[in-house]
Amino acid sequence: MAEFFLPANSKPKATGKVHKAAAEAKRVKKFKIYRYDPDLGENPRYDTFEIDLDTCGPMVLDALIKMKSEQDSSLTFRRSCREGICGSCAMNMDGKNGLACTTAIEDIRGDIRITPLPHMDVIKDLVPDFTHFYAQYSSIKPWLQTVTPNPGKERLQSPEDREKLDGLYECILCACCSTSCPSYWWNSDKFLGPAILLQAYRWLADSRDEMTGERLDQLEDPFRLYRCHTIMNCANVCPKGLNPAKAIAEIKKMEAERVL
Ligand code: SF4
Ligand code: SF4
Ligand code: FES
Repeated sequence: MAEFFLPANSKPKATGKVHKAAAEAKRVKKFKIYRYDPDLGENPRYDTFEIDLDTCGPMVLDALIKMKSEQDSSLTFRRSCREGICGSCAMNMDGKNGLACTTAIEDIRGDIRITPLPHMDVIKDLVPDFTHFYAQYSSIKPWLQTVTPNPGKERLQSPEDREKLDGLYECILCACCSTSCPSYWWNSDKFLGPAILLQAYRWLADSRDEMTGERLDQLEDPFRLYRCHTIMNCANVCPKGLNPAKAIAEIKKMEAERVL
């Protein structure tokens, strides 16, 4: 049975710490950041960080790095490439999932509230637990599978077949889409969610892969595939401009066509 209220130990405390900007700062922006440290045994809280925009880079990630460097070194978040490539800085900013390194501070009006990706267990502050997400990724066998003898050279693909992977191969597995999908919120134990299904279609669409039937067998399940109800949140938030809902529809079409 779905639970519609936060468990008592997940409810944010009414007050958090306030980190003031320097008195001489002229352009101050307030960030409300979700803080949770399992070692403290306390409920989460929102801390307020005042950032002087005149001494900060333009992106939300720049502000987070400044907070950690200058105001509270215990603030915990993931990041690596700073270029929208690694997917590790995915978080919820002002109610929308996205990448902190490609989200401009000036594009968000007023105070900016930042929380971890929704509906995932939180390890600390803005760091969600991806264990289940990666296990689901592993379950679709995301690599080229063949049965014909090894040709002893690269398996070639025509330019037309290669084009069929456009809009799929660019996925950086940031999980912005899956964690904004209501079906995934309620059924993530069994529904694979948009990110993993887009990856599954990436291999179904690859002309060199020879396990299409087995892959479709594995996906044909009322929960793994068919919990997508075309709500389209996934396509709305993807920071790479991809459309997981379309990929899911293509898988459903392949499942239907092979029955005919
Ligand atoms: S489809 Fe987009 S939002 Fe989803 S994991 Fe891939 S890059 Fe991230
Ligand atoms: S289209 Fe499907 S996968 Fe995308 S958000 Fe909606 S239910 Fe989830
Ligand atoms: S730091 Fe790599 S995508 Fe943001």
